[in-house]
This record gives sequence, C-alpha cells and structure tokens, in this order.
Amino acid sequence: MTPKASSPILLFDSGLGGLSVLAALRGQLPQAPIIYAADLAGIPYGEKTEAEVAARVAGMLGRLAERTHPRLVCIACNTASTIALGMVRDVLETPIVGTVPAIKPAAAMTRTGTIGLLGTAATIRQAYVDNLEAEFAKDKRLIRHAAPELVAAAESKLRGHAPDPEIFTRAAEGLLRQPGGDAIDTVVLACTHFPLVQAELGRAFGESVQFIDGAQGIARRIAYLTQGQSFDRRHDDYAIVTGGGHSDPDLLSGFEPYGIGRIEPI
Ligand code: DGL
Repeated sequence: MTPKASSPILLFDSGLGGLSVLAALRGQLPQAPIIYAADLAGIPYGEKTEAEVAARVAGMLGRLAERTHPRLVCIACNTASTIALGMVRDVLETPIVGTVPAIKPAAAMTRTGTIGLLGTAATIRQAYVDNLEAEFAKDKRLIRHAAPELVAAAESKLRGHAPDPEIFTRAAEGLLRQPGGDAIDTVVLACTHFPLVQAELGRAFGESVQFIDGAQGIARRIAYLTQGQSFDRRHDDYAIVTGGGHSDPDLLSGFEPYGIGRIEPI
C-alpha cells in the first residue's frame, strides 16, 4: 500500500545520537515528516547486555509503531542495530533500516591499511562487526576501542554544556596507543553519537586521521526505499522520549536546530 504523504519516517536511538542520521536524511528528503524517538530512560545501551538491549528495542519499537504508523523505521543506533535488527525485522511489518559500522567505505579510504573503530562496548564485541571485518577488511588491520564517555559527551554538548576535552584525548589514545595504532589513518565512528563530537575528536586525533560514519549511507538507503512515495512536511517534526525529558528546556534546544519543535512523553 502506498503511504500517505503525511506518513512519517520514525528514527529511533537511545538518545540524541540519531540526530547525526536525521541531519543526513534531511539532505536527501527535505520534505519527509520525521518523528524522532529517544529512549532516554535506557541510555546508555552500550553498557547493557545483549538481552537487555534486544528487549528494550523490540518493546519500544512495537509501541512506537502502533502509535505513529510510520512508513519506515530507522534504527539510528549502532548498538541496537548490531544486536536487535534481525529480531525487530521479524516482528514488525514496517520496512526497517539499521545502522551498520562503516567498515566497507573505511577499507576503501585507508592508505596505511590500518583502520580504527570507535563504538560502544556492546557494539565492538558483536559478531556483526566481526562479519563486516571478515567481508570488507580482511586484508586490513582493524583496531577497536570502546568509548562510552563519548556518548555522554555528545548528550551534554547538544544540551549546551561543553564536554571536558580530556574525554576526546582518552578516546584517541585508546586507539592510537594499541599495538600498531600509530598507523591508523581512518577512524570509523561506529556510534551515531560520535559524529556529533567529530570536531572535538578531530582536534584530539590530529590532522593525519580522517573519519567516516554511516549517516550518509543510511540516508541514501532510506531515499532508495521510499522512491516514488510522496512527502508532505507541513509542520515542525516532533520527538517522543522516555524518562521524563519532555519538559527539559535544554533538551528542546538540542532538538530545535534539527527542525524538531516539540517533545512528547512516550
Ligand atoms: N547511539 C548509540 C549507538 O549508535 C549508542 C549510545 C548508547 O550507548 O546508548 O551505538
């Protein structure tokens, strides 16, 4: 069935990280109505077990799909996607786009053959990442580091509080100080929060390192899957959050530059 022009695309993340995907999506589909859902009561997903993440994501997306009738759901979170994408696809009838660490483009970009990967603790231990490495980077060296502090840093930055620069230094050192790490020239930002602090990471890593994330690829995939559909974005988009953040003015000011004008509780 062809969706109505007002039918939204639902973007889902544990927090504000999915806004990096939203920004890329606006570039591709400026007229698409978007609902942004953040499980702020559950953040950080990266510090949870696989079972906890899978249960939260499946439960939340089931409720959200019933409430908002999206034409497409984007899980704008690497942790949730690498753990729960298959399972959510089995239970929801809506098309679902996940977020995959950008190992394939990184393998094409690296000149030294050494790639760094920054993600959450849960993401970097997933078989999903092992499979991407085996498929797209088997002749490269992939060095992984979990940087959960960057999630909180991105959340603070968007709420108007400057994060401690030491956080970014620690993230860079976590990769560069591993054996062979001094050869890293390309870093995969395998958490949707991290592009939101890319300028700070750039200062910490120095000019010899380039970054790549999945946002543009996801936006192109969504545009492809919705080809031929009509879009009518007449009103500001809105967010739905768990955890009582809907009345937080700092949170609203984080959303506003992304065209989200109000926040509702779940
Ligand atoms: N934004 C999420 C990701 O892409 C993770 C943040 C969290 O730990 O909740 O992995």
